[in-house]
Amino acid sequence: MTSARPESAPADTSVRAFPAGFLWGAATAAYQIEGAVDVDGRTPSIWDTFSRTPGRTDGGDTGDRATEHYHRYRQDVRLMSELGLGAYRFSVSWPRVQPTGRGPAVERGLDFYRRLVDELLEHGIEPAVTLYHWDLPQELEDAGGWPARSTAERFADYATLVADALGDRVNLWTTLNEPWCSAFLGYGSGVHAPGRADWAAALRAAHHLNLGHGLAVEALRTALPREARIAVSLNLHEVRPLTDSATDREAARRVDAVGNRVFTGPMLNGGYPEDLLADTGHLVDWPALVHDGDLATIARPIDLLGVNYYTPAVASALPDGKAPDSAAASDAGHGDGAQSPFAGCADVLFHHAPGRRTAMGWPIDPTGLSDLLLRLHREHPGLPLMVTENGAAFDDRPTPEGAVHDPQRIDYLRGHLDAVRRAIAAGADVRGYFLWSLMDNFEWAYGYGKRFGLYYVDYATQARTAKDSARWYAEVIRRGALPDPCV
Ligand code: FCB
Repeated sequence: MTSARPESAPADTSVRAFPAGFLWGAATAAYQIEGAVDVDGRTPSIWDTFSRTPGRTDGGDTGDRATEHYHRYRQDVRLMSELGLGAYRFSVSWPRVQPTGRGPAVERGLDFYRRLVDELLEHGIEPAVTLYHWDLPQELEDAGGWPARSTAERFADYATLVADALGDRVNLWTTLNEPWCSAFLGYGSGVHAPGRADWAAALRAAHHLNLGHGLAVEALRTALPREARIAVSLNLHEVRPLTDSATDREAARRVDAVGNRVFTGPMLNGGYPEDLLADTGHLVDWPALVHDGDLATIARPIDLLGVNYYTPAVASALPDGKAPDSAAASDAGHGDGAQSPFAGCADVLFHHAPGRRTAMGWPIDPTGLSDLLLRLHREHPGLPLMVTENGAAFDDRPTPEGAVHDPQRIDYLRGHLDAVRRAIAAGADVRGYFLWSLMDNFEWAYGYGKRFGLYYVDYATQARTAKDSARWYAEVIRRGALPDPCV
């Protein structure tokens, strides 16, 4: 694939243009792409253990090989350069850098990220580091995992190790990726590693993820140069009531509490919302869980809020007389037969909006993204936003000639980028967009069956092929604007 660098493009000043300086990126995560799980001192993470446990992932897929990015990163940076990316968001594998989750760093592990960052900088691509994208060292899980307070402290130590190694050349830092998934899919429904289904543990995990974030922000501020920008990436649920009835609105409020405000409350407003404490007080002893000083730590100011968005959620109250069951969770695509990840919400039903869906079964609705960005802008004025993940899986297949035509992905991206543009036009301060994902990869419990990439990966040969969407995105970046008329 060929494409010009963004600097060479004439500025597009049309209404379809994004602001000057808007950061165009793509995202990945360590366990989903690196492979090389047992080299250079790396030890198992909870995702190694979970994916090797029979029945946990589709087809028994694991990240053992993934896309072999650990060995092919130079080639992958070339692909990014062909896209004209301004930035690349990747995560550091905790068990590669600090195998036991304690003590000194393993330099060979850090060296991989030093090489990657150097390669990015040589290609004019800004590195954006995520410290935690779900791969907790197994030893820390064995010591209690995120439901244990000590894990938050270990996370801050690890943040310092990475900041000391990369702080001279990385300016954009994210503490946690989607702590909701870590807490509520990992410990609430158990469809993600470590696979525990215990709402009380999930709520404890949520608090310790919040605390870990705050402690890591403190550690990063100490270790990094002043100009470093620190963020967290949240998968906020754009939750809508099925009807305007009081009971459906109440169901949506509860999902908003345990899906969103359990993180935004303490991180951005200085405390857990009263309604969340009331809704979940029977599950967890909040006054014992939250120690003096925790809330001040968690609320340490951040420079940017990362927003990951794929689809909206539609919630309703279970009709009177119907017994709560696991349908609530499976309807929402959270795992067949699993307990709802939304702690205390077994009596909330989830629905798919009508219309087109991605291969994940997720309804396609870009208004969810603009509504979410505008809500954040209203509720947290002055806090810059960044879309740190957005994209779609479709059943891509190469033609006999080797091309990969993915018009549905282009359509999805066009709609969602237009939603970002509209939110900006309405006042939201959105600084950039990271497309999920650079290339097809290990999609967690779904294994390799779900393809989100701009580049198609042939897992037998590890060949990467630009999909049509890659060329389309390169053109958007080159112009700084959506190329086609948008309604
Ligand atoms: C997000 C994850 C990311 C990827 C996308 C599809 O929840 O952060 O790793 O799996 O979903």
